[in-house]
Order: sequence, then structure tokens, then C-alpha cells
Amino acid sequence: MPETSAPPPVHRSLSARLLVLTVLFVMLAEVMIFAPSIGRYRHEYLNERLAQAHLALLALEATADGMVDERLQMRLLHHAGARGMTAWRPNRPQLMLGEDPPQLDILFDLQGAGFLTLLGDGLAALVRTDNRLIGVIGESPKDPEVVLAVSLDEAPMRREMLAYGKRILILSLIISLVTATLVYVTLHLWLVRPILRLAATMAAFRRAPEDPARVLRPSRRRDEVGVAERALAAMQTDLRAALAQQARLAAVGTAVSKISHDLKGVLSAALLESDRLEATAADPEIKHVTAGIARALDRAVHLCSRTLSFAKEGPPDVRHEPVALAAVVTAAAEAAAAAGPATVTVAVPDGLTVLADACQLPRVFENLIRNAAEAGAGHITVSAAAPAPGGAGAATGRLVAVTVADDGPGLPPRARDNLFQPFSGSARVGGTGLGLPIAREIAQALGGDLVLDASGPGGTVFRLTLPTMDAT
Ligand SMILES: Nc1ncnc2c1ncn2[C@@H]1O[C@H](COP(=O)(O)OP(=O)(O)OP(=O)(O)O)[C@@H](O)[C@H]1O
Ligand SMILES: [Mg+2]
Repeated sequence: MPETSAPPPVHRSLSARLLVLTVLFVMLAEVMIFAPSIGRYRHEYLNERLAQAHLALLALEATADGMVDERLQMRLLHHAGARGMTAWRPNRPQLMLGEDPPQLDILFDLQGAGFLTLLGDGLAALVRTDNRLIGVIGESPKDPEVVLAVSLDEAPMRREMLAYGKRILILSLIISLVTATLVYVTLHLWLVRPILRLAATMAAFRRAPEDPARVLRPSRRRDEVGVAERALAAMQTDLRAALAQQARLAAVGTAVSKISHDLKGVLSAALLESDRLEATAADPEIKHVTAGIARALDRAVHLCSRTLSFAKEGPPDVRHEPVALAAVVTAAAEAAAAAGPATVTVAVPDGLTVLADACQLPRVFENLIRNAAEAGAGHITVSAAAPAPGGAGAATGRLVAVTVADDGPGLPPRARDNLFQPFSGSARVGGTGLGLPIAREIAQALGGDLVLDASGPGGTVFRLTLPTMDAT
């Protein structure tokens, strides 16, 4: 499965996109501020010219005839940045300096000029390239009763406007970069990093959902990220519970398969006994066979009742009681007789008693003997050696080793490779591959074990160890 939790390339990362977008938005905001401020700058520039003109014209009042010589006139006009100027005052003669009448290219009336007019005139002045002679009429900033008209060159004003624009642009860039960085860092810490953490947790959880350490531990955040973290943690917990439940159900399925498997064997034994009952009529035989049927059916019922306890996980719960080994093996050999025409020799000392479950232990021998018979063995020998101290699972007591040997063809490779693996060890048509796993599971639950001792063309030997009476 492809790894989807790797961080994206830098240019595709949320952080980089946030950074670019923040710069763009801040620049946009600056542009929206720039246009009105350029209009206002031009308005202030022209007002300043009017104020300067008023001051220059006041110098004329000091003269007797309202006239100054040409040199002074030039200097006054230069200081005011104008080519000509006129002042109208209530009940007093008008004052005038410079060209009369000036050949204006355009006249601007500042009195009552609205926001949009100033904005449009400001931008228009900025984009022109020629030098127009412009006229400006407006109230004197020094004295509202005085109306002034000034004529001046547009080029110097444009130069100042451009310089002002450049300053605003540089400032905007600095502001937008600082803002973008702050926004970027904040969003990275608050949003992007927690999202990456969530993604990493999801990927880690996906790799091993059964590991409780991979369930997200939500932070104490109360915002949307906190909500997402808590939702994810809850989902992971639920998912783990569902997985555990599923595993339990699978175990139930396996357990049911095992029970069906053994029930089949037990019922076929009962069938065999009833066949024999039918075939024989003499009373003592009928008595014996009926007892056999009753025993088989009793075990079948017992196995069914164990289905429920098998649904629980873990090894089968077994009882430890004294069981006469020879009798169990003989009964198992009879029960497995239907599997093939093999003869069974029981070489177990009569007095040998093991600590086992009287209902479960026969299943072990039945499976082993039936397997050998099904494999085509002609003769099967079950023998028990004298109890030996120590050994697997017997740290506290003595174990007896019981061998089940046959003269069959030996284990096929497939069976050998998957021996004791449920469902995969079978190399026999119609086999389920559960016989040996069940037998080993019971042996281990009893405190012993079941292992393959030897297998080859001359036959197969399985070795079963069981605790003896004095093992506890
Ligand atoms: N004594 C034996 N001699 C030769 N092959 C054997 C012997 N015992 C087991 N096998 C092989 O091992 C395989 C696995 O045995 P196991 O009892 O687990 O499953 P099975 O017999 O195929 O099916 P079932 O679940 O019905 O017992 C068998 O299919 C068989 O090929
Ligand atoms: Mg089998």
C-alpha cells in the first residue's frame, strides 16, 4: 500500500500557500489604501501651493501701489512654486503676480471637490507623461475669506507624487512581509503542525491498529483542531474495539470448525456401533454395543456443550483428573477404526495413570490414530515409556512420553511444512488440517506437548508428553 502520510512538497504545502496568499491579500489591501492616499497627497500639495501664494501676495500689500519689481516678483513666484497667482478679497482690490492671463491647459477647482474627483484627478496626474500648465482655484488655507487662483507646472508635482508612491510601495512590501510571516508562523503552529500530527497518527495507527500506544492522545485544545483530535481518538478506540471483537468472532469460527471436526469423528463412531448392533442379534453383544453407542453419544453431547466455552478466547479449559491411559488409547483406537483397516497395538502399562481430562484426551489419540490409518498405515503402535523427570511443560513434576508410531508412507512435504498450523497443514483430500493443531492444543493445555519425532518412507512417529499422577 503506498505511503500517504509523507509531507507534501514545499510548493504544495499548506504553509507555502498560506504565505503567498497572505502576501497577496496584504498587498491588495495596501493598493486599496494607496489610490485614495495619492489623491489626498495631490490635494494637500495644491493646497500648500495656495497657502504659499497667499503669503507671497501679502508681500504686495506692503507696497504703496501693489506692485513689486520684476526680480522680487520672480523670487516670490519661485518660492511659491507657481507661474502666476491671483487673490480676491472681499471689499478690497485683487492682488496678482505673474502671467496674466495664463494659458492654462486645465483648471481645477478645489472648492467642493468630492472624494471621487480627487481620487480620479490624482491617478490621472500620476499616469500622464507631459507637463501641463494647470490652474488651481480654492480658498486660502490661511484665510477662508480669500479666494486664490494659482497657475503651476504639473511635472514637479508628479515627481513628488511618484516619490511618495514609491515610499508607500516599499512600506507596503515591508508591512505585507512582516504580516505574512506572522500569519504564517501562527497558522503553522496552530493549524498546519496539528494537521501533520493528525496525519502521522492516522498513518501509524493504520500500520498497527492493535497497538494501544498508537491511539491519539488529544490535546486540551477547545477549538476545531481539538474537536478533530478528540473525534479521531474516539474513532481509533472504537475501531480497536471492533477489531478485537472481529478477532474474537474469528476465534469463535475456528472453535466451531474444530468442534464440528471432532463431532464428525464421534458421530461416525456411533454410526459404526449402531451398524454393528444391527448386524448382531445376540443379547450380550447388543448390551456391549449399546453401551458403546451411549458412550459415543454422550461425548458428542459433551462436545456440543463445549462449543459455547470454545467461543471464549484462549486455550481450551481442561480438567486434571486421574485417567487410565491404556483404556483411553484402546477406546480411541476403536473409535478411529472407521478411518482405515490398520491394526492398533496398545503397548501401555496397565497401571499407568496420567493427569488429564477424560473427555479431551481421547481426542488426541483419535486424531493421531485416524491420521495414520488415513495415510495408509498397516500397523500402528501406541507405546508409553516409564515416566521421566523434567521436560517441556513439566518443570514441577514428571511427564510420561507416549509415542504413536506407524508404518505408513511418512508425512507429505506440504503437511511437514505446515505441521500444527490450523487449516494449512492438510495434504489429504477431504482433510481440514485441524486434527494435529487440536491434538497439540489439548496436550499443551494439559501441561504436556505433542511433537513430531520422526517421519520418512518407513513410517511416522509422534511423541506426546503428559503429566503423570505425581506431577502436581
Ligand atoms: N501418521 C501420518 N502419516 C502420514 N501423514 C500424516 C500423518 N499424520 C498426519 N499426516 C499428514 O498431515 C496432514 C495434517 O493432518 P491433520 O490431522 O492436521 O489434518 P487432516 O488429517 O488433513 O484433516 P483433519 O482435520 O480431518 O484431521 C494430513 O493431511 C496428512 O497428510
Ligand atoms: Mg487428521
